[in-house]
Parts: sequence; structure tokens; C-alpha cells
Amino acid sequence: MKPVRFFTPENLQIVKRLVSRYPPGRERASLIPLLDLAQRQHGTWIPPSAMHEIANATNLSFEQVHSLVLAYPTSFQWRPCAPQLRICDSWMCCQKAKQRENGIYEAAQSLVSQYGVEVKTTECLGACYGAPAFWFNDKIHTDATKESIKQVISKEFSK
Ligand code: FES
Repeated sequence: MKPVRFFTPENLQIVKRLVSRYPPGRERASLIPLLDLAQRQHGTWIPPSAMHEIANATNLSFEQVHSLVLAYPTSFQWRPCAPQLRICDSWMCCQKAKQRENGIYEAAQSLVSQYGVEVKTTECLGACYGAPAFWFNDKIHTDATKESIKQVISKEFSK
């Protein structure tokens, strides 16, 4: 029986290129971009077939790939039932948010009832240069204020 392929031929080339950036035995270093590629191809989540293919490409077990999907705050093992908002609560973002007393956490919580958005905190989003930062709908937003969070979400719901 022919194995089911998840990645499109174009994305399979990207997978090979990403994995080849690392020496043998270090293929796992390409996991985050591979998971991102899989999630973008599939929409909003990463199906088991993608995790199997990534495991094969990186010489890891399915469980190792799956555990990273579970651990990483912006990757999903099933289709989220509500729009997802992640607020960074690592040191730099917390400090900046506190200094500015900008109320981003309170603003984010108000979106739960207003739009049904699921709000969670997350570790560093890698956007410390623009702290405080948040992630919504596959994009990182920097210099967050309560107004900017509400603006991003309401713009999304007005489409
Ligand atoms: S600490 Fe928030 S993005 Fe790095």
C-alpha cells in the first residue's frame, strides 16, 4: 500500500530544504518551521498524517513530534473551536505592559465574552523587540495596547 502523503509536492521540497540545513542527527532543529509549514498548508491545525511525515523527515518518533505540537502555544492538534489569542507573559512583555499600565490582559479577557475568542498566555513569542506582544490568527502583533488588541480582533470579525 502506498503511504499517504500529507505535504504537497511544493511543500515537500521546502521540507527537504529545511531538514537539509542541519547536519545528520540534528534534523529536529527544523521542527518548528516544519510544524508551521504543515499548519499553514492545512489551515489552522496539524493532522496526524503531517506529524507522521515530519517524524519521518526528521528521524524522530511520532510521539516526539506530537509532544511538540502539544507544547507549542501556536500549534494545534485539532481545529480550534474558537479564534485563538495568545498574550505573551514572559519577562520582557510583562515588564513593558506593567510600565505602560496598558491593560492588555484585561482587554484580552473582555474579548472572550464579546467575540468568543479563546485567550491564553504564552511564553516568549520571539518578538521581545516590540514588547508587549500578542499572537492572533497566525500573526504576531507588537507594541500591544488594549486599543490595538481590540482593533485587531474587531477588524477580523468585521470581514
Ligand atoms: S517576552 Fe514577549 S515576545 Fe519575548
